[in-house]
Amino acid sequence: METVVSGIRSTGNLHLGNYFGAIKNFVKMQHEHRCYFFIADYHSLTTHPTPEDLHNNVRQVMVEYLAAGIDPEAATLYIQSDVPEVTELYLLLNMNAYKGELERCTSFKEKIRKQPDNVNAGLLTYPVLMAADIIIHKASKVPVGKDQEQHLEMARTFANRFNRLYKTDYFPEPFAFNFEADLIKIPGLDGATKMGKSESEGNAVFLADDPGVLRKKVMRAVTDSGPTQPGEPKSQGVENLFNLMKVLSTPDTLQHFREAYDNATIRYGDLKKQLAEDMIAFTAPLREKILEISADKDYLRRVASMGAEKARESASKTIKEVREIIGFKPF
Ligand code: TRP
Repeated sequence: METVVSGIRSTGNLHLGNYFGAIKNFVKMQHEHRCYFFIADYHSLTTHPTPEDLHNNVRQVMVEYLAAGIDPEAATLYIQSDVPEVTELYLLLNMNAYKGELERCTSFKEKIRKQPDNVNAGLLTYPVLMAADIIIHKASKVPVGKDQEQHLEMARTFANRFNRLYKTDYFPEPFAFNFEADLIKIPGLDGATKMGKSESEGNAVFLADDPGVLRKKVMRAVTDSGPTQPGEPKSQGVENLFNLMKVLSTPDTLQHFREAYDNATIRYGDLKKQLAEDMIAFTAPLREKILEISADKDYLRRVASMGAEKARESASKTIKEVREIIGFKPF
């Protein structure tokens, strides 16, 4: 059994790509490992959200992860800002994080390009806070995508540097838990090969989308002018719709439309109508759960406080030991 930590960005609703991607792995891992999943709301302050947005975003992410199958009894699901120990470790790690290496970080360079009027110290030290998130639980595995590899490498650097400075082997090295290879890839509706919230408008199907929105999105999905002769290769957009069907529809349905395409009699309108209905059938129970959990304030409060308690138990133990290692001693 390994200790696993993953931070969840506190903005953006879950889409089908997330559902068949990271979440499936979280749900599986929560029974196999000691898992800490948290909503990274301190990190989100680097972009200056309003108080309402901050709260609503955290709440929605929590609701959707619960609806998607995170079990707060099996895993520790918590809100980062409920665990102030993280900020203490962040402060301590900052003393051994160097300006040069932080400035060289790709995500920092990208951020200063995107928000040139708000290049705050939180952005610069984002990787330090992320390292603190991970090593506060002495985690060895971090289930994240490729885009986080550099951050993880920095987390290893900070953990190792601490160990070297204080001649200890206190912090284990955290490594990526690579799950991308065996993921079901969910394509987008705009012809892009990937479903993602940062892609173009209408690309992603969110778990919370109502049937009306869903039908509209699918009907607007990118296709082409249709096959003119049997055996024509599919354009990317059409290929995507078939791939979505493969995941969401019955084998018979898929077979039917494949044949229609192959003998060039297909009408994309029919395929889209069918896909939309199958998508609605698939997401309906999730959407229902989202609405149900969202309305249950008591449950959410219980989940948050249970998560905070479990996370703080682990975090405060680390902080106590780290303080001793550094030399903060009671008189
Ligand atoms: N940087 C991560 C992202 O953008 C979120 C994150 C913050 C995180 N702290 C973490 C991920 C700790 C894993 C572990 O997705």
